[in-house]
Amino acid sequence: MKTLQDLGELRGKRVLVRSDFNVPLDGTTITDDGRIRAALPTLTALTDAGARVAVVAHLGRPKGVPDEKYSLAPVAARLGELLGKQVTLAKDTVGPDARAVVEGLADGDVALLENVRFDPRETAKDDLARGELADELAALADAYVSDGFGVVHRKQASVYDVAQRLPHAAGQLVVKEIESLRRATDNPERPYAVVLGGSKVSDKLGVIANLLGKADRLLVGGGMVFTFLAAQGHGVGKSLLEEDQVETVKGYLAQAAERGVEIVLPTDIVVAPEISADAPATVVAADAIPADQIGLDIGPESARAFAAKIADARTVVWNGPMGVFELAPFAAGTRAVAQAMSDAPGFTIVGGGDSAAAVRTLGFDESTFSHISTGGGASLEFLEGKTLPGIAVLED
Ligand code: 3PG
Repeated sequence: MKTLQDLGELRGKRVLVRSDFNVPLDGTTITDDGRIRAALPTLTALTDAGARVAVVAHLGRPKGVPDEKYSLAPVAARLGELLGKQVTLAKDTVGPDARAVVEGLADGDVALLENVRFDPRETAKDDLARGELADELAALADAYVSDGFGVVHRKQASVYDVAQRLPHAAGQLVVKEIESLRRATDNPERPYAVVLGGSKVSDKLGVIANLLGKADRLLVGGGMVFTFLAAQGHGVGKSLLEEDQVETVKGYLAQAAERGVEIVLPTDIVVAPEISADAPATVVAADAIPADQIGLDIGPESARAFAAKIADARTVVWNGPMGVFELAPFAAGTRAVAQAMSDAPGFTIVGGGDSAAAVRTLGFDESTFSHISTGGGASLEFLEGKTLPGIAVLED
């Protein structure tokens, strides 16, 4: 895979960079700027080299038409602050304003094109439609840098098709993400532990199936654990349960036993009658959840057991919170896993999305983890062993 060095002399060249600026917003306030900060090394390397940088990105899932709610304006402002220079936001992505803004760039300048998903061709299934948009994006630049790791699992015009039309390279974030995730997937140092959480087991089926052949330990928490407990024949009260997945999970438990993979499930659960920070929370045994209660976090005994299984692993990957960590009474399990990962001497990867957000909102020092991925779906698909179109297209 080519990297920035392979693009040759960059002074005066127009470089189109795909970043993932899909950040959480509260109105127009960015509540976690992790993805913007993660984009800085590539952007700085390019501007230091004198390139004229146009960044293309998406925010949310607008319906293929301009929608103020999904404007990248807050991102342009934050990016400008972090880079310490003006970042002009073009009013469109490939229209007259984008062309004029890119035309006006001086060496070392950065502009941001408006949300590429305002154009329905970005996410079109039709190759020709995507190709048309990719042609228009390619016309804005002399080279293309793919640095939006969070979106490389999408076969979209600004991720995939444009790379076929310009000299291209992977940016520093994409290189770092792939190197880190490969360390966990290709020949990991053992014991290799994977901690899975999040609400739905159905989102993680591919990962579990793939990991049963790779990991030594699978620790399960979060909403998905209740489908595991049900598969073991326990009642789960009013907890989240995917009944249609119970048989599949039974199959996983049997396979794990056959292959010698240790599945670690919680032995105690924090329950409450409703999902509210004021509801009376109690700790019950995992095989005795009362019928009128909802399981909202793993209990303290489970948190200690999970921490011990993380502490002596040589490689640990964590994806998905252990409970409803946004509410203080149900945050302890997620905090305990984050703390154990942060203290662990092994190689530790926090999968993106909610677990990365949890690490930051719970106030952990990011540098105490080996790698915090910026990819949610992308890092999961990587762990599933899938081919990611946005990576495959760079490998020539
Ligand atoms: C993400 O937030 O995981 C990426 O930005 C991809 O977004 P998408 O799931 O809307 O394609």
